Parts: sequence; structure tokens; C-alpha cells
Amino acid sequence: MILIKGLWKSFADNEVIRGLDLDIGEGETIVVIGQSGCGKSVLLKTIVGLIIPDSGEVVIDNVSLNNVSKRNLYEIRKKIGMVFQSSALFDSLSVWENVGLGLIEHSRIPLREIRRITREKLKLVGLTDVEEKYPAELSGGMKKRVGIARAIAMNPKFVFYDEPTTGLDPIIADRINNLILELQKKLKIITIAVTHDMKSAYRIADRIAMLYDGRIIFDGSPEEIQNTDNPYVQQFIKGEEKGPITGGT
Ligand SMILES: Nc1ncnc2c1ncn2[C@@H]1O[C@H](COP(=O)(O)OP(=O)(O)O)[C@@H](O)[C@H]1O
Ligand SMILES: [Mg+2]
Repeated sequence: MILIKGLWKSFADNEVIRGLDLDIGEGETIVVIGQSGCGKSVLLKTIVGLIIPDSGEVVIDNVSLNNVSKRNLYEIRKKIGMVFQSSALFDSLSVWENVGLGLIEHSRIPLREIRRITREKLKLVGLTDVEEKYPAELSGGMKKRVGIARAIAMNPKFVFYDEPTTGLDPIIADRINNLILELQKKLKIITIAVTHDMKSAYRIADRIAMLYDGRIIFDGSPEEIQNTDNPYVQQFIKGEEKGPITGGT
């Protein structure tokens, strides 16, 4: 369970998150949508404790990230796997080292066993015979899968995906959507994704929340979002431009 209460975050005079509330329950797949630059990545990073909010609170499994001790923060982070938009793989490390990095650095598990675990996680994301390869030798979709394998390496309870399908061609994007659903079912992972790809949102979400102007302006099922009369939501999900075009030449 994740509770987000009254969250605010500015960068200089750019107020990105402006009093955001959101609850995420057991077994749900929630997708936060919103246009580029609206603060989706900032929101995810704040939930995992990579960004400290100016005010408000994030509570994960009954532990508030405010004033959390270093040890408790570490315990919470262990429950979370994060798939970054760019995959964020280390080019100088092989695939298995990338996947096993958390285990290599934070556990006493012998390397041999870590190799076995990374092989198993790679298999779960549909990759075999790539352990010895380097990220530069992989396609975009494969890199994404390696990023997902890394996120699940430590058996997290939550997996956060930042734009899981952005930059992938539609067929590969669809395979990634299927993989997200499959992992969620197989591993009982609570999935939170942020995206501006509505197709992906409809495919994977039980619940869709829309971030606009620093707050959640809509929160409901995929069916409810299609029937809402909120004009900002309608504009976004229909892929229209935001508001009338003013100024310029
Ligand atoms: N570390 C940072 N320092 C300053 N501004 C930032 C930082 N991270 C994000 N921002 C700003 O916050 C806003 C939201 O960014 P982001 O969360 O990346 O948007 P999204 O993921 O929805 O595309 C943008 O205006 C961005 O420039
Ligand atoms: Mg982003």
C-alpha cells in the first residue's frame, strides 16, 4: 500500500507537484498519465525517495518516508524495483552484471548464485543467451527487458515503470505491455507506471490517474476515463493539443 498526501515539489520557481494526493492499494495496476513535462518522473522519483518533496508525505507499507532512518529507507527501497525510461543500464557492465548489480552490491550471495538468479530473471522477461552481452549489442526492446529484469532481481513487492513503451515501435511496445501484465500476475507485483502513451495505459491499467497542473485531476477505471466529461482529460486521451494555440506567428 502506498499513500501520497499533500505532496508539493518545486524546482526554483517551477512548481511541478502542487498538492498531490494518491492512494495505491494492494494488487492494483495504476497508470499515471499526463503530458510530457507535467511531472510524472518527478512523482515516481519522489515516491521511491530519490527526490525529497518540499512538503507532504509518502507512506509505503505504513512507513512514512518523512524522517525515516537510513536503515528503514533501505528496507523500503528493497521492496521497490524501478524501470527507468532510458533503461539506465551501465554500458561497461555485461547484461548479467547489470541485472545482478543490486545483489552484488547489497547482498552476501555468492557470485555463482547471483549468476543463476540473473539467468532466471532474464528468462522471466523472455531473454536467453544474452548474459555475456553488453548493452550496446542489444536492441531498444531488449534493453528495456534487461531493465525490467534488473528491477525484479531482488524480488520487489512494487515495480515502478517510467514510460515503459516510449521510444519503442508499436509491436515491441505491445510486447512490453504484455510482459508487464504477465509479471504482475506471475509475481503478484504491484505495478505503477507513468506514461503519456494511452494505448499502453489502457492495456495495463486497472486504474488510470491523470496528472495535470501538479495534481491528480482524474482517478478511475479505463472505462470511466473514456466517459468523463473533464475537458482536460478528454483532450489528453483523444490526443488533442492542449488549449487553443495562441501567440507565435
Ligand atoms: N532535477 C530537476 N531539476 C530541475 N527541474 C527539474 C528536475 N527534474 C524535473 N524538473 C522539471 O520538472 C518538470 C517535470 O519534469 P518530469 O517529471 O521529468 O516530466 P514528465 O516525466 O512528466 O515528462 C519539468 O519542467 C522539468 O524540467
Ligand atoms: Mg518523464
